[in-house]
Amino acid sequence: APDIPVANVKAHLSQLQSIASANGGNRAHGRAGFKASIDYVKGKLDAAGYQTSVQSFSYSGATGYNLIADWPGGDANNVLMTGAHLDSVNAGPGINDNGSGSAANLEVALAVAREKLQPQKHLRFGWWGAEELGLIGSSRYVSGLPAAERSKIKGYLNFDMVGSPNPGYFAYDGDGTSGGGGPAGSAEIEKVLRDYFAKINVPVEDTAFDGRSDYGPFIDVGIAAGGLFTGAEDYKTAAEAQKWGGQANAPFDRCYHSSCDTTSNINDTALDRNSDAIAYAVWTLAGAGGTQQPGE
Ligand code: PHE
Ligand code: CA
Ligand code: ZN
Ligand code: ZN
Ligand code: ZN
Repeated sequence: APDIPVANVKAHLSQLQSIASANGGNRAHGRAGFKASIDYVKGKLDAAGYQTSVQSFSYSGATGYNLIADWPGGDANNVLMTGAHLDSVNAGPGINDNGSGSAANLEVALAVAREKLQPQKHLRFGWWGAEELGLIGSSRYVSGLPAAERSKIKGYLNFDMVGSPNPGYFAYDGDGTSGGGGPAGSAEIEKVLRDYFAKINVPVEDTAFDGRSDYGPFIDVGIAAGGLFTGAEDYKTAAEAQKWGGQANAPFDRCYHSSCDTTSNINDTALDRNSDAIAYAVWTLAGAGGTQQPGE
């Protein structure tokens, strides 16, 4: 898998920040900044050769949008999907939550195109609307899929907050070592994500696989899922600060759902490691092979 250039991911975050600043300071459902964010991501994907579609939905008196991008080729009956929510809360620009996951997902998609990847599986990338109002966009996407289309999705990877300023390194507990686990196949997804961090010698902790982000609607219908997370309002313990660095007894993201969730609210190392982990997981799980060593 390729090394994802973190500078490219950060350039997308700067664009999302500019979009928020030009549209009343946020990128929330029903606001102009959300649609402008969709248009920005779609423009990059269209130029790279993706087949994109925008799914509109109505929620709470406003129109919301999901953006779906398919990379041509691969086994159409065997789909690997990744996704991130693109909406912010009303309070701020949403750069860590979830410009970070959106920008990393976009840059991995662009890396697929740069490498002209022809994996065994079909690759699909999604950007969800109205996550902050209750996983609305991802729920509409899953519920709108005909049963035959739903059963083709063999795995879904979710990235919601992957650049927290006082980061932890968390993987959704798909194998149930800390709880109930997920649909069959979720354990393998967790393992592949953890394998990347093992290669770069960064310890990973489980985080709850309880449906608190857009993978929820997927696991509810039995689709295997997984994902990464660098922490939100919870506090980093002394033991976690020992192994990960950063500030003990302080939140992973002190600007969570606040106006200060700007481009200043990003830890570049966390953003880089998570972006590279996403690429590793996509290449590995899609059957693309690859020989690149971590840390390059
Ligand atoms: N979904 C939460 C939000 O957008 C963030 C979150 C992601 C929390 C993953 C826990 C686990 O606000
Ligand atoms: Ca990188
Ligand atoms: Zn949020
Ligand atoms: Zn979020
Ligand atoms: Zn686990």
